[in-house]
Amino acid sequence: MKPRRVEDRQDHYYWKAKKEGYRSRAAFKLKQMNRKFGLIKKNYWVLDLGASPGGWSQVAVELGARVVAVDLSPMKEMEGVHFIQGDITSGDTWRKIREIRDSFDAVICDASPKITGNWDLDHFRSVEITEAAFRIAKTFLKPGGNFVVKMFQGEETPRLFSEFKKFFVFRKLHSPPASRKRSSEIYFIGKGFGGKFRPKRDLD
Ligand SMILES: C[S@@+](CC[C@H](N)C(=O)[O-])C[C@H]1O[C@@H](n2cnc3c(N)ncnc32)[C@H](O)[C@@H]1O
Repeated sequence: MKPRRVEDRQDHYYWKAKKEGYRSRAAFKLKQMNRKFGLIKKNYWVLDLGASPGGWSQVAVELGARVVAVDLSPMKEMEGVHFIQGDITSGDTWRKIREIRDSFDAVICDASPKITGNWDLDHFRSVEITEAAFRIAKTFLKPGGNFVVKMFQGEETPRLFSEFKKFFVFRKLHSPPASRKRSSEIYFIGKGFGGKFRPKRDLD
């Protein structure tokens, strides 16, 4: 990890990640959310979407999970992680996931488009990714499974949240302390997949 921007050089979590051997500062967001919500447990199968460079996968492995990780960009090898290079909006990637495993205890998604700093633009570009992650979660999550997905806040947030909410027993919008203060990112947390509107599998 090299500091790419002035804010990285000034950032507490950037240096903490470097010191503790995490591939990204984002690792602390998952650690904090897991401490608060208990999303990942020992022996879970976790599907990590938008995984590169691998901070979230590292945290999941530390928690005793086995991980299938997906990203558009390459990711350095990691023990306990099976990596697929691909686009989460593409059916081809879904097929590759299914070749490894067709059900997971948790689906976690930190995928994001390249940030422009324009809140509306970043929001609309993230909606497609967030919706793709949700379709994947509905297809691959075990009953009772857990889901966390990032979105950039904007006018579509209430609609997406009310759609997600139908499928989980516990649901919350949450911003972990490690999110940058000026970022519009927020995480949807869903626990106990298959609440009263348990969906049919999307891709069969
Ligand atoms: C903020 S980074 C993820 C950091 C990661 N959670 C970690 O802890 O290291 C966002 C990632 O989303 C990926 N991404 C964006 N759109 C994607 C897509 N459609 N399919 C797969 N990955 C995507 C990007 O390539 C980028 O690596």
